[in-house]
Amino acid sequence: MEDLLSTKRSNVSEFVPRSDDIYIVTYPRSGTTWLQMILYQLTTNGNMNFTHISQYIPWLERALLTGRRLNHLPSPRVFKTHWHLSKIKRWPGKAIYVYRDGKDVAVSYFHFYRVYLGFDGAFEEFFDLFLSGRVQYGAWFQHVRDARQYRSEPNTFFLKYENLIDHPDDSIKDIVKFCGLDATQEEYSRAIERSSFEFMSEHETKFDHSTEIWWERIQTRGRFMRSGKVGDWKNQLNSDQKAAFDLAAARYGLD
Ligand code: PPS
Repeated sequence: MEDLLSTKRSNVSEFVPRSDDIYIVTYPRSGTTWLQMILYQLTTNGNMNFTHISQYIPWLERALLTGRRLNHLPSPRVFKTHWHLSKIKRWPGKAIYVYRDGKDVAVSYFHFYRVYLGFDGAFEEFFDLFLSGRVQYGAWFQHVRDARQYRSEPNTFFLKYENLIDHPDDSIKDIVKFCGLDATQEEYSRAIERSSFEFMSEHETKFDHSTEIWWERIQTRGRFMRSGKVGDWKNQLNSDQKAAFDLAAARYGLD
């Protein structure tokens, strides 16, 4: 499994933070994607023609790991990250820290592990891993405690998932204000409507983890339907490799 906490293999040195960057900072399963959709609706014309939301709002650590270019994105750039807030606070820009009842996070993460990461154990087993921080991004408790030290800092906004559920209108207004965005009444209404659980569920593939990995792979590695041509090997094999192939084929009696 890739180490998403590490920047060792990343091109992090090429990432140039900007003062108008906006980071959605969360422990996994705390409402990250919801915020991505809200901010996408508020910072674009809101069309749904994208393949995956990460086209507009990249997952920072994955983008750095895979070498996706971020410096050409227009301002204000919005990123999703599960890194600790203290790591993000080293850079300029604004951070929205979204947090959620840790017990709901544990249950949601359990299902994520089962559906996307091939975990076959029972909830009891996962819960032990969760409590002891032996899951991706470590302990929820540490993540939240780390964030708390920035509670009253400027350029940092704390948003509770449960408040967003109870008062989406007010929460979205607070987000607009914090980010210094202009939003017409129409844009507010669209953001509320399109960030509803129902609307996002109808467009699930634009938000789900598998599409994100698939889209990212196409951008940075290549496609499954790659070339479909006869003799494409000539663009890859050198003469030694061609000779080695012919020799091996001859040994098997193949022409
Ligand atoms: S991830 O994988 O870390 O990016 O997951 P994340 O987006 O942080 O959290 C996923 C949970 O958020 C729920 N979710 C929503 N709840 C209410 N309204 C909206 N619009 C919404 N969008 C996502 C999602 O269903 C996951 O929670 P659970 O409890 O598993 O349903």
